Amino acid sequence: MEHFYALNNMSKEELMSYIELTDDCRHEELVLDKQVFVSNLFFEPSTRTRMSFLVAEKKLGMEILDFQVEASSVKKGESLYDTVRTLQAIGSDVCVIRHESDNWLDDVSGIDMPLINGGAGAYAHPSQSMLDAYTIYKEYGRFEGLNIVIAGDIKHSRVAHSNIDMFKTLGANVYVSGAPEFMDENVSVPFVDMDEAVEMADVMMMLRIQHERHESDYGIDSYLNEYGLNLERESRMQDHAIIMHPAPINRGVEIDTRLVECDRSRIFNQMENGVYVRMAIIIKQLLNWRVIDEYQISKR
Ligand code: CP
Repeated sequence: MEHFYALNNMSKEELMSYIELTDDCRHEELVLDKQVFVSNLFFEPSTRTRMSFLVAEKKLGMEILDFQVEASSVKKGESLYDTVRTLQAIGSDVCVIRHESDNWLDDVSGIDMPLINGGAGAYAHPSQSMLDAYTIYKEYGRFEGLNIVIAGDIKHSRVAHSNIDMFKTLGANVYVSGAPEFMDENVSVPFVDMDEAVEMADVMMMLRIQHERHESDYGIDSYLNEYGLNLERESRMQDHAIIMHPAPINRGVEIDTRLVECDRSRIFNQMENGVYVRMAIIIKQLLNWRVIDEYQISKR
């Protein structure tokens, strides 16, 4: 059985099945008819991912174990494996984990319980990618032929790394843009200059500078006008084009603050969609691992 860790092995059909189930979660208010315990282990700060998993779990009627890393025996040196194994022994049926390591799954290999990646270092953020895909699909009803530009700190962004693979699988044309020092030589999509990007993009996905993953301070004084989405660049976007951002946002750095909630911004729609996407991810994991069967899902 596979954990929900990265999307690079998922087929287009499988990715689309998450989008369909997300729509069901939104419109049919699905709920579990079985007592299912979940633990959320966040070793890095989070607002959106943690809170939307919590709302998703509550909407599904799950029992949430009140695990706080700072108040746990992790602080006494307990390993990730022993922490997760302990929660399983106590009764957790599924765990959501965010961790600073790219490879935290290696540390819990052998755990016989579904694990959901809430963010792994700079490697992957698959639930964010799923909500990004759902948001774009709601907008355009397709991925084929769309020009999606991911702009910003590509090298240090788990969102960029997850999204590039996923959008390619879904049939979109994916590009990266931003400061040359933030590009990642391991990413195999074309680079476009920001001035060209804004004119050809159907989706401009802006990323913040991931200062916490940098080895030295990066100056931001001229970033907006050199590499960010300022008002002048936004004025050259196609009429139908949308702006996205996984957030948190550094207003006035990668994006002018006046664009964060402009008509073409879908930034807060992304956050709302995150709840339903995370419901779908939980349901699929519980079904795949036979924690529940399909008869234990009903409409509220
Ligand atoms: N987009 C995102 O992962 O935000 P949080 O770090 O607040 O969860």
